Amino acid sequence: MKYTPQVVYTREELREALAQLSGKRGLVMTMGALHAGHLSLVKYARERCDHVVVTVFVNPTQFAPGEDFDAYPRTLEADVEALGRVQADLVFAPSTEQMYPHGDARVTIDPGPTAQVLEGETRPTHFAGVCLVVNKVLNMVRPEVAVFGQKDAQQLAIIRQMVRDLDMGVEIVGAPIVRDSDGLALSSRNAYLSAAQRSQALVLSRALEAGRTAASAGASAADIVTRTRTVMASEPAADLDYVALVDPVTFLPIKRGEGVLAVAAKIGSTRLIDNTLLEVSDD
Ligand code: PAF
Repeated sequence: MKYTPQVVYTREELREALAQLSGKRGLVMTMGALHAGHLSLVKYARERCDHVVVTVFVNPTQFAPGEDFDAYPRTLEADVEALGRVQADLVFAPSTEQMYPHGDARVTIDPGPTAQVLEGETRPTHFAGVCLVVNKVLNMVRPEVAVFGQKDAQQLAIIRQMVRDLDMGVEIVGAPIVRDSDGLALSSRNAYLSAAQRSQALVLSRALEAGRTAASAGASAADIVTRTRTVMASEPAADLDYVALVDPVTFLPIKRGEGVLAVAAKIGSTRLIDNTLLEVSDD
């Protein structure tokens, strides 16, 4: 029989629904337009918790003017149906007024130095907006576990740091990137790509694969970055923002050890990011 999770829209409804759930609570935060990557986060939470709460909220405070806040796909009905297939218990889909009833927050969160590099250079206000909404939702839902995707590796590192530094008492779990069979990392923004652009976008995962191959062969950090950049440059439609090999916690460049090889590029007007974890053994 088809299962549909309970959907609530207001803080009061959320509070009442949470009071009905006993046992270990897991949280998955999303902006909707759900794909298999999001659903894998719910499965991850399910394996670790008795109940899973999923939020669907396109958070305005993490978009800068001119970014895709208005265009961001909103597909709540399909999202709820998909969440039923992975047995989410409760969906919280608030309006902006529910989430920010007093307008702009006057107390905000400084996401620290990790937020100033890579994504932070192109999107200087983005991570402060993410930290604000994550904080608010953690306070509203009070989960024991919250699962975030490794696809947004810098976001995951900053949220982990925030939870650690502010003693927020929730376990943050990172879940692996989910890719299409051709390698493209799943992202709600892939919906913006035309068929031609979608195949051009494959250059990101191909470039990361070249970096991984170089790392396995013992290449230096500089060589890994060069090989990755060379593949990116082979696709004229890709407007490269960065290729970087960084520490998974600080997001500063590394020379050896465990690293995140991260890439960001625009295909047409769609900005895509992707990354892979690897080990740099060269000395
Ligand atoms: O990763 C996202 O989709 C968003 O940044 C998040 C964590 C749901 C906060 O709005």
